[in-house]
Amino acid sequence: MNNKWWHERIFYQIYPRSFKDTNGDGVGDIPGIISKLPYLKSLNVGAIWISPLYASPNFDNGYDISDYKAIHPEYGTMEDMERLLAEAKKLDIKIIMDLVINHTSFQHDWFLKSKDPKSEYHNYYFWRKGKISKKGKKLPPNNWQSMFTGPAWTYEPSNDMWYLHLFTREQPDLNYENPKVLEEVKSILRFWLDKGVAGFRCDVINLISKTSLKDGKKRVYKTGKEHYLNAPGCHLILKELNDEILEPYAAYTVGETMDITIDAAKDYLDGELTQVFAFDQVQVDYFLLPTFKRKYKPHRMVNALKKWQLKIPWNTVFYENHDLPRSVSRFGSKKYYKESVTALLASVLFLRGTPYIYQGQEIGMTNVDFGGIENIEDVSSRNVYNLLRKFKVPRKLAWRFVNNFTRDHGRSPVQWNDKKHAGFTTGKPWLMVNPNYTEINVEAQEIDQDSVLHHYRKMATLRQKTKAFKNGDLEFKKTHRDILAFTRTDDLNEYLVVINLASKARTHKLNLDGEVLYSNYQEFSDKAKKLRPFEVQIIKRLD
Ligand code: NOJ
Ligand code: CA
Repeated sequence: MNNKWWHERIFYQIYPRSFKDTNGDGVGDIPGIISKLPYLKSLNVGAIWISPLYASPNFDNGYDISDYKAIHPEYGTMEDMERLLAEAKKLDIKIIMDLVINHTSFQHDWFLKSKDPKSEYHNYYFWRKGKISKKGKKLPPNNWQSMFTGPAWTYEPSNDMWYLHLFTREQPDLNYENPKVLEEVKSILRFWLDKGVAGFRCDVINLISKTSLKDGKKRVYKTGKEHYLNAPGCHLILKELNDEILEPYAAYTVGETMDITIDAAKDYLDGELTQVFAFDQVQVDYFLLPTFKRKYKPHRMVNALKKWQLKIPWNTVFYENHDLPRSVSRFGSKKYYKESVTALLASVLFLRGTPYIYQGQEIGMTNVDFGGIENIEDVSSRNVYNLLRKFKVPRKLAWRFVNNFTRDHGRSPVQWNDKKHAGFTTGKPWLMVNPNYTEINVEAQEIDQDSVLHHYRKMATLRQKTKAFKNGDLEFKKTHRDILAFTRTDDLNEYLVVINLASKARTHKLNLDGEVLYSNYQEFSDKAKKLRPFEVQIIKRLD
């Protein structure tokens, strides 16, 4: 295989608001990231993806950008950003930025100007006349739904028109039918690549082109999606960006691709994006909608992982990001906390592909008991709650649904130590800190040689020093359906990785002979032909 740097490195996602605050305003900042670079290096991290740091009114915490070439003052200055890039470079850590180009903020200068139908910016967005109902009520131009509940259109009295927004009303969609929009995007890409970023994580990239604005087939969720998911125009845009800018800069891209299938992913991976994020493995406990949960079954996880491993030569492998609850609280266990955190980490680190670790995952951070909707900041959770209440769902039940999947679980501040506010800030944190920080925190885990953090480091080091784990072939072994068992091989060696993803012991008929390189249990014997709850064994075959 022709190895590029992204085949070799462990990626780590930073959600800057919640990472580390240095000036006591309760919000994480760039100096905070700089202060933790040595820590990230100690995690074997070779690249970081930073969620948006740009100027933004923060209706969706930075995913609503009002100036793509400016740093939000709450995170620091452009000089801070340049210092971060320089310091990271010294440690050989690459940085990728979040590229949010499906929509801007409604406070972006382009949008403010676009309200005037005579403005040259009017066609930067989708402005349309609405419909009128029989009773004379103003109605949106079509029936599309916003991803965050309600119609995907908002009425603007100043021009008597509606504008499209697939997310909140504060996030108007850009119109790529207008070639000027793509030219603006190119200039943004060049701006950041010239500053030294290594590439981009491309937000909801497979929605950016709309084939038509006709009514969509009525659905419970995402009505309209057949008009904007994986549209041919999206491929044309990405090819153009790739050929003209990304390729010449040798930039890396990873696309957040909503509802992606394997075949659709292959199209993006052919000269458009370097990698995609697919979500099958983090939806195994969804029931129809993200809000509703079904019982987690480990074999569903095994199957979801296998499916992508077998069909896509080079995957992103992840369980967490800033939109998802914590993996141990979904797929792990309280009783076997350490075993389950390490089992999940092992699957991220040893499957084939580029591993993405989300901040705090390396210490096994868990979901938070927020107590009630009043402690939730996430706009999508608040909207879902209001919608459920509108349909008369009782408060308690509505809260339970929201609490299942609120994005705030992953956004609660990183737990650095057992001091006030977990050492995240000296001020008032913008979002509740998990009260379990007194037990789960980086400092305590640095001291305890058997902590999740040390297990993570052992595994990450093993991965990084072993050619077969970084880029060797992978072959699955037939065994109990809850066990993930596979070999990784290079020219010289074969390694066997077995991970029991179940909270119960599982029998197997695998041959586990060889040198044990890593285990998340103290003693190991293969006599019983049983893997204990969440047991991991990594074995080097000897001949
Ligand atoms: C996906 C991002 O990950 C999420 O946080 C955001 O709300 C939406 N895209 C809209 O930008
Ligand atoms: Ca701060």
